[in-house]
Amino acid sequence: MAKTTSSGTSAQVKTGKPTSATDGKGLSSSNKVSSKSLSKSESQMPMKEENHQDNIKQNDSRLEEFFHDELKDIYWAEKHLVKTLPKMQKAANARELKTAFADHLTVTKNHVERLDQVFGILGKKPQAKKCEAMEGITKEGETIIGDTEAGTSTRDVGLILAAQKVEHYEIATYGGLAQLAKTLGYDEISNLLQTTLSEEKEADQNLTSLAENTINQSAASEQ
Ligand SMILES: [Fe+2]
Repeated sequence: MAKTTSSGTSAQVKTGKPTSATDGKGLSSSNKVSSKSLSKSESQMPMKEENHQDNIKQNDSRLEEFFHDELKDIYWAEKHLVKTLPKMQKAANARELKTAFADHLTVTKNHVERLDQVFGILGKKPQAKKCEAMEGITKEGETIIGDTEAGTSTRDVGLILAAQKVEHYEIATYGGLAQLAKTLGYDEISNLLQTTLSEEKEADQNLTSLAENTINQSAASEQ
């Protein structure tokens, strides 16, 4: 978002428009410049088109850079989850929940590999950039483990809640990135990200089923 704003600023500089809105005398400085520009309309027209083209190219490369940066962010998040899921599996009480975490670990390793593929298609080396959001969500999960008693369904409820926050973050990220890849003309990458998105949604639904069908009820009967 900040990049869009800076793009607007750079466009203003390029067209020679001052950044201050008024000169304090009622008439804005930019209006004065615009009036002069309008009087030279014939010679200005081709120049304006060139500037427009430049801006399109600039925005493209900024968007590419942003997309690449966001891929590094989710790459870090997935790799972090590969380390976190075994801890959640160990902390879980219900066998079905342990299995769900174990299954999702396998799926998450595939997500890392799929991102390796995405970096490959872009001709980039896979790189991770710390994802503050994922670190925060997983820290919250650790707090839940610390605050609940081992072997209880209440802990399982907490673990499901934490895991679903993870899934929802990933669903939001992959949904946005798959669409962005499409916009940038990377259809193959978009399909890869869509596949991961479907698997995240599936994991989320599985956790909902576990909570609704058994674990919430079991926790409700705990003292
Ligand atoms: Fe994932």
